[in-house]
Amino acid sequence: MTGARFRVRMADWARDDEALRLIRFAVFVVEQQVPESLEWDGIDADCEHAIAEDRGGAPVGCGRLLPDGHIGRMAVQREWRGSGVGGAILDRLVARARERGFAKAMLNAQTHAIPFYERHGFRVVGEPFDEAGIPHRAMERALRG
Ligand SMILES: CC(C)(COP(=O)(O)OP(=O)(O)OC[C@H]1O[C@@H](n2cnc3c(N)ncnc32)[C@H](O)[C@@H]1OP(=O)(O)O)[C@@H](O)C(=O)NCCC(=O)NCCS
Repeated sequence: MTGARFRVRMADWARDDEALRLIRFAVFVVEQQVPESLEWDGIDADCEHAIAEDRGGAPVGCGRLLPDGHIGRMAVQREWRGSGVGGAILDRLVARARERGFAKAMLNAQTHAIPFYERHGFRVVGEPFDEAGIPHRAMERALRG
């Protein structure tokens, strides 16, 4: 989706890592207190990334698609939340997962974000578990049929 106030594009870790790191540092490391050693998990170069930028090109949100079809690291700068940025990033990554031929898109949702993912067609498939001190549940969305 291309909104009037922002646009979403696929990003490249080698070229866009500074912008992607900026968002994730603010949201996960500073706001959610995720240790940096967990945040920078070494697989970003193997993932496809989506980034949302404002009209001036400043990064406002991001997410990634892992080689196994998992979507993760969905993050939107606090002042931009509730503006459709997260939904647009998620739509883009789901579309990319479909293009790549995955039968389903999967993610581990922080429990507070479950209603957000449910509105985008995902359903809970597992029991609660802890990751980086934050409660999560596995969710998935069928992409075929
Ligand atoms: C989860 C997250 C990525 C969603 O991004 P977002 O840009 O707020 O998402 P959207 O604006 O597309 O959708 C948020 C929904 O909540 C509603 N909403 C209203 N006010 C809101 C607010 N202040 N903050 C968030 N959502 C709000 C929106 O209307 C929207 O509802 P809809 O889907 O029925 O339209 C974002 O909240 C975030 O970065 N959270 C912190 C990091 C995090 O927890 N990531 C998820 C890890 S699993």
